[in-house]
Amino acid sequence: MTATSAVSQEILNPHLCIEGRRRLQGVLKVSGAKNSALVLMTAGLLTDETVELTNVPNLTDISGMGRILSALGVEVHHSGDSVVLNAANLTSHEPPYELVNSLRASFFCIGSLLGRLGQARVPLPGGCRIGARPVVEHIRGLKALGALVSVEHGIVTASVKGSRKRLTGAPIVLDCPSVGATETLLMAAVLADGTTTIENAAQEPEVQDLANLLSQMGADISGAGGPVITIQGVERLHGVRNYPVIPDRIEAGTFLLAAAITRSPIRVEPVTPEHLSAVLQKLRDCGCQLEIDHRGISITPGDIQAVDITTQPFPGFPTDLQAPFMALMTTAKGTSVISEKIYENRLQHVAELQRMGASIRVEGSTAIVEGVSQLSSAPVTGSDLRAAAAMVLAGLAANGTTKVSGLKHLDRGYDNVEEKLNAVGANLKRQQS
Ligand code: UD1
Repeated sequence: MTATSAVSQEILNPHLCIEGRRRLQGVLKVSGAKNSALVLMTAGLLTDETVELTNVPNLTDISGMGRILSALGVEVHHSGDSVVLNAANLTSHEPPYELVNSLRASFFCIGSLLGRLGQARVPLPGGCRIGARPVVEHIRGLKALGALVSVEHGIVTASVKGSRKRLTGAPIVLDCPSVGATETLLMAAVLADGTTTIENAAQEPEVQDLANLLSQMGADISGAGGPVITIQGVERLHGVRNYPVIPDRIEAGTFLLAAAITRSPIRVEPVTPEHLSAVLQKLRDCGCQLEIDHRGISITPGDIQAVDITTQPFPGFPTDLQAPFMALMTTAKGTSVISEKIYENRLQHVAELQRMGASIRVEGSTAIVEGVSQLSSAPVTGSDLRAAAAMVLAGLAANGTTKVSGLKHLDRGYDNVEEKLNAVGANLKRQQS
């Protein structure tokens, strides 16, 4: 964004006006997973043939990743829910700082650039409101694969010695099961010489989606989705047509919570239920009936009771649904203890929920939420993507009209949210001032 447009955004303060307390009814459609699509796009760097992804969500983060890949010389065609990539003529191994800084996942392209070209210069991703978010595990793993890595003036420079510029497979044990590090190393290892094992790997469905795409491109990977991934390096990868991104489990979870907080029966589809097991269990525990079939989930909320949650790596309760779940708990009967264990600063939505009448006490990284009988509307701001989603949910349940600002965050991760919610009976209006 230019300085002028940033200023005008601020003056205009785009926001959503949400009329609360409406009953919802019908089917909420889930888009493709943002966190998968972003990383699958960087996998397109690994081949000189065409990679076509479908079921790609329409989000500002996706267009941002498209711009980053274009800056590297990738041909990117985005139309509807399809993204077609061709990296036959890469012209750069250095994504520009201004673009990487606003999109953390773009750092993960360091793995595919190294695998394909044997060199990469990638700016460190900027800090983030929810926590420090280091990339030491990514760098440690790349070094284990034989890369020479230095970090100077905020830029990570990595290269591979030797005339073939090829990484060498190696055993890697991650200190923590970082999603991004697992994905970066997976992309680096598929074209390496020999066998790589990643122990204590992240088990998130998005890692499995990446491994599936890479396998369709000719990679030799086993164990993805479990704690140990084994990669046998191959000489080259080929293109893929029509690879569908998995459904977004976080968007699906947010929609189930929208049903619960409005006490409305709703159907959410498509969903892969195993991707949401921990969340579905908590929804049942707090009094929702769920009917699950191969395409989706029908939820019938009852009298919502307080339950406790602790965020954990997959298959535990996802940190990305902590804020939306807290919004639900502000309206539950009883006291809920919500512990954030992944990010050190991810309770910023508490103050905003309090402005809407929620009763919440924070002790360190734990929020103690006493349910209230009714939230009341207020002007509120979502300080990050999932905090913004929590504000939308609270607005759906509150008395009166809630004004939610911070839409630049919401638009990073929720495809057409007002259109989707309005189609099931909500009343959300986007306004500019
Ligand atoms: C991904 C998701 C994000 C989600 C997060 C955790 C994408 C694009 N984003 O982010 O939505 O919230 O997983 O589920 O997929 N850590 C270290 N050292 C490292 C790397 C990470 O200590 O080198 C720590 C982080 O500080 C954090 C935890 O590991 O506490 C999880 O981070 P990580 O899994 O790396 O998150 P991302 O891949 O950035």
